[in-house]
Amino acid sequence: MASNGTNPNTTVSTDQPWWRQGVVYQVYPRSFADANGDGLGDIAGITSRIDYLETLGIDAVWLSPFYPSELADGGYDVANYRDVDPKLGTLADFDELVAALHSRGIKVVVDIVPNHTSDQHEWFQRALAAGRGSAERERYIFREGADDTSPPTDWVSMFGGSAWQRVDDGQWYLHNFTIEQPDLNWSHPEVRADFVTTLRFWADRGVDGFRIDVAHMLTKDMSEPLLSRSELDALPLDGNHPLLDRDDVHEVYAEWRRVFESYDPPRTAVAEAWVHKSRVPLYASRDSLGQAFNFDLLQADFDAEQFSRVVRDNLELAHASGSSSTWVLSNHDVVRHATRYGLPHPERDSHANPVHKHGADWVVSGGVTPQLDRVAGERRARAATLFMLGLPGASYLYQGEELGLHEVAEIDASSRQDPTFFRSAGADFGRDGCRVPLPWSATGTSFGFGSNGAHLPQPSWFADYAVSVEEADRASTLSLYRRALALRRSLQTTEQLQWVETGNPAVLHFRRPNGWEVVTNFGAESYALPRRDAVLASETLDDDGVLPGDTTVWFA
Ligand code: GLC
Repeated sequence: MASNGTNPNTTVSTDQPWWRQGVVYQVYPRSFADANGDGLGDIAGITSRIDYLETLGIDAVWLSPFYPSELADGGYDVANYRDVDPKLGTLADFDELVAALHSRGIKVVVDIVPNHTSDQHEWFQRALAAGRGSAERERYIFREGADDTSPPTDWVSMFGGSAWQRVDDGQWYLHNFTIEQPDLNWSHPEVRADFVTTLRFWADRGVDGFRIDVAHMLTKDMSEPLLSRSELDALPLDGNHPLLDRDDVHEVYAEWRRVFESYDPPRTAVAEAWVHKSRVPLYASRDSLGQAFNFDLLQADFDAEQFSRVVRDNLELAHASGSSSTWVLSNHDVVRHATRYGLPHPERDSHANPVHKHGADWVVSGGVTPQLDRVAGERRARAATLFMLGLPGASYLYQGEELGLHEVAEIDASSRQDPTFFRSAGADFGRDGCRVPLPWSATGTSFGFGSNGAHLPQPSWFADYAVSVEEADRASTLSLYRRALALRRSLQTTEQLQWVETGNPAVLHFRRPNGWEVVTNFGAESYALPRRDAVLASETLDDDGVLPGDTTVWFA
């Protein structure tokens, strides 16, 4: 196998904005690195790992929320949108992190959570104090109950239980997520104005882009009478549904677009929008947020037919929106892909509800049933990653996947943090298992995460996946990610892909315009390769004419 992919025929297109085909690495700040030894990751911890981020070869870091928060939902309950949680540092620490990342050529994306605030947010506290009928309550969605003890409707929150919570004076407020996350009223001009202030606040501090949380839920038609849950469920999702994916949400984003374009270079955004495929281009269009997550790979099995369909569909959608496609295998909301791919198929059913995750039953069993094949899962994860990184468009990576980390199932009830666990009465254990602090070294109270333990318990097997261990091993997943990202940078080309017929339903082969080729064998049987000059493979190839099962190879 050739060791280096620099091909004289490679055309690197330099005129495209970074976000179109960038690799964005998601950092979950409370679990990345702990500089002050309180068991919770912090901003200074991220800065202290700047060499690691640079060596990885990513284009941007996306920071999950680091704002003041009571952590009712892992930081997605924001008490102040324009500050840093004192437990994580200060605005000065944030500025230092941005400067450090920029000095290494890494862009910064922050998370904006506009559907709801924390119940600790000043506005909500004032709404509670001011009472029914007050102007303060207008910024949220307060209603009278159906009677003294029943909520206004039978709507259910995304984390289970009623979507309404009663306050002391008897009114109810809407919360589509946890009780501590009251939904904002996006018909209110002050709500709209305040988010523009927030976007400018971070853009002025040098932030390059924004990830928009549940971008499809902000605007709502709350005119009376409110429909019941079953009536809502029967309505089409055509832009007029009272609660979901409404056309009028794009009025909000049109205003944000003007904010983004007022900067040089324009700030970017990516929508987290769980909407029907046909509606994704609305969010990804240049008049709206400009790019949207596509979670299809994340929901697919490790399966050639499914992967090929996902790629075809999403390249078409990207074309329709004028944006590039995004690709995601893991994030802070789902069971890690090394684990998903190591579980038997029935466990990997796809679910429409984004909160119910593949592998959820395995987590509930404490990681016992069905039996996880760790080695196969990691091998498939590496193959899937190389497949993804070869695709036209942007790839989003989640911290720890570059180590081949598995989901952690061994978390006892007393250590669990995810509201999903509490609101489902333990039926769904939620997302703590992918949010366990990273292992940086094979020893120490928290495997080098910090000097004094970790806020979610790390299992002993984390030692084998420590950064220090994998850095020393040329065959590790980390070494593969580093080689792949460096090579990808030199091979990147225009956003096109051509399929090459393989005659084997388990093998996918595509070619990029500059001759970069990717072949993935999703099956168990070996496949005879059409070429022998591979520049990278997800496993060591014993015979460079043969692609073993669960393996990807790149040619250039
Ligand atoms: C998004 C986030 C998730 C959070 C939810 C509510 O889906 O990714 O972590 O719980 O929004 O803010």
